Amino acid sequence: MNILTVVGARPNFMKVAPIIAAINEHNKRLSSDSAGRPERQAGRIRHVLVHTGQHYDEVMSGSFFSDLNLPKPDIHLGVGSGSHAVQTSEIMKKFEEVLLLEKPDVVVLVGDVNSTMACAVVTSKISFDSAGSRPVIVHVEAGLRSFDRSMPEEINRVLTDHVSDLLFVTEESGLRNLRNEGISPDKCHFVGNTMIDSLFHFREKAESSKILERLRLLGQSGNNGESKAVIPYALLTLHRPSNVDNRDAFGDILAGLEELATEYPIVFPAHPRTQQRIKEFGFGFGPGRPARKHGENARGSESPSNGVFLTDPLGYLDFLCLMKHAKLVVTDSGGIQEETTILGIPCVTARENTERPITVESGTNRIAGTSATTIREAIRIQKSRQIKGSLPKHWDGHAAARIVDILARQQCERGFSQPPFMPQSAMAREQRPCP
Ligand code: UD1
Repeated sequence: MNILTVVGARPNFMKVAPIIAAINEHNKRLSSDSAGRPERQAGRIRHVLVHTGQHYDEVMSGSFFSDLNLPKPDIHLGVGSGSHAVQTSEIMKKFEEVLLLEKPDVVVLVGDVNSTMACAVVTSKISFDSAGSRPVIVHVEAGLRSFDRSMPEEINRVLTDHVSDLLFVTEESGLRNLRNEGISPDKCHFVGNTMIDSLFHFREKAESSKILERLRLLGQSGNNGESKAVIPYALLTLHRPSNVDNRDAFGDILAGLEELATEYPIVFPAHPRTQQRIKEFGFGFGPGRPARKHGENARGSESPSNGVFLTDPLGYLDFLCLMKHAKLVVTDSGGIQEETTILGIPCVTARENTERPITVESGTNRIAGTSATTIREAIRIQKSRQIKGSLPKHWDGHAAARIVDILARQQCERGFSQPPFMPQSAMAREQRPCP
C-alpha cells in the first residue's frame, strides 16, 4: 500500500510524527514475521511525506523536524504565506501534480489548517484512470466542531470531513458531530489523539531542554546541591486572527492579563502574526511598561521580574518543557488545550468556544471568552482550584498504532487500489481473504 501524508503548518508536525513511526513499526514487524511467508510482504507500506510549505520558517517548521525525528519531506511544495484564497489555490495546483505523479492508494491528512482542506478537496476530485479511481482520503482529528463558522479552521474541518472516506476521531464529541451531519458511522473510528502520542513519547526528552535556564526561570540551587527550583511563571500564546488582528480585541485580552502579570512573569512565545500586530499596534502591558523582548527586562541578567516577556516562537521540546513547569497557561490554541489536559496544568482559553469539549469536561481547561473581565475572572478561578485532570479515553500514546492497524486491515480486506474507489457498503460485499 502506498500512503502519502501531508504536513503544512506547525500543528501538523506533532500529529504526523507518530503516524510515520507507526508505519515504520508496522513494516519492521512484517519483515520479522514474514520469514518464509513472502506473501506477507504485500502488506508493507510505502510512505511519502509531502510538505506544502504553508509554514516555512525554521521556528515554525524546520526545528520541528529535528525535535520530532521527522524524516525530511520527500516533496516540498514551497507555497508560503498569502491570503486564504492564494495559499489554498497554490497548494491545490501543486498538490494535484504530486498526486498524478505519485498515484498513492491513501492520502493521510491531519488537523484543520488550509493545507488539510486544500489537499482533501484535490484528492476527492482527482481521477487516475477512465474508471475514476482515486486515493482513499483519511482525515486524522475528524469531527471536531466549534460551531463557529467565522473561524477558518471550522470551514476546513467541515469540508475535509465531508470529502473523507475514513475519519479518525480524537474524542467522543467528534463521533456525535459526524453522525449529526449525516456521515456514515461505518467510516468513523474513535482512535484517540496522535498529538498526545507525541507528548507521551517526547515528554521525558523535553526535560533536557535548556529553555528554563535560557529564560532565567531557575532559582538558586540548594545548599546540598539539589537541583534548582523553577520560578513560578505563567505561559501565554495568542495567534487567532479574531484575537490579534483587531487592536481593540487584542488590547482587551492583554488588559485581562494585567493582574496575573503583577504576580508572575508571563512568558509569551509569540507567533509571527502576533509579533507583527504587537509592533503595528505599539502595545504595552500597562502604563510605562511596554512589551519587551525577553532579556530586555530592567534587571538585566537576573531572573525576569513580573510582567510579560516576549520570545520568538519556540521549538516543540522547549515549548513542552515550558508547559510542563508552568503554573498556568493562557492560550487561544486548540492543541495546547489538549496538551495541558494531559499534563494536568490549569488552562485558560481566550476564546468564546472550543471544538475540544473533552478538555473542559476533563477538568483542566476553562473557556474564558475574550473580554478583559471574563479572562481575569477565569484566571482567578483556575489559580484557586485544585486541578484534577483525568485522561480522556484513548489518549494513551497508541492512537497512531490504531490508525495504521485499521489502514492495514482495510487494505487487506478491500484492496484500496481497486478502481474505482467504492463506497464502504459495496466494498464490504467484495471482501477478499487476507494472507
Ligand atoms: C495557521 C492555521 C492555524 C494554526 C496556526 C498555527 C490555517 C487557516 N490556520 O495559522 O489553524 O493554529 O497555523 O501556527 O491554516 N508566518 C511566518 N512564518 C511562517 C508561517 C507564517 O512568518 O513560517 C507569518 C506570515 O506573515 C503569515 C502569518 O504568519 O502571513 C500567518 O500564517 P498562516 O499560515 O497564513 O496562518 P497562521 O495564522 O499561522
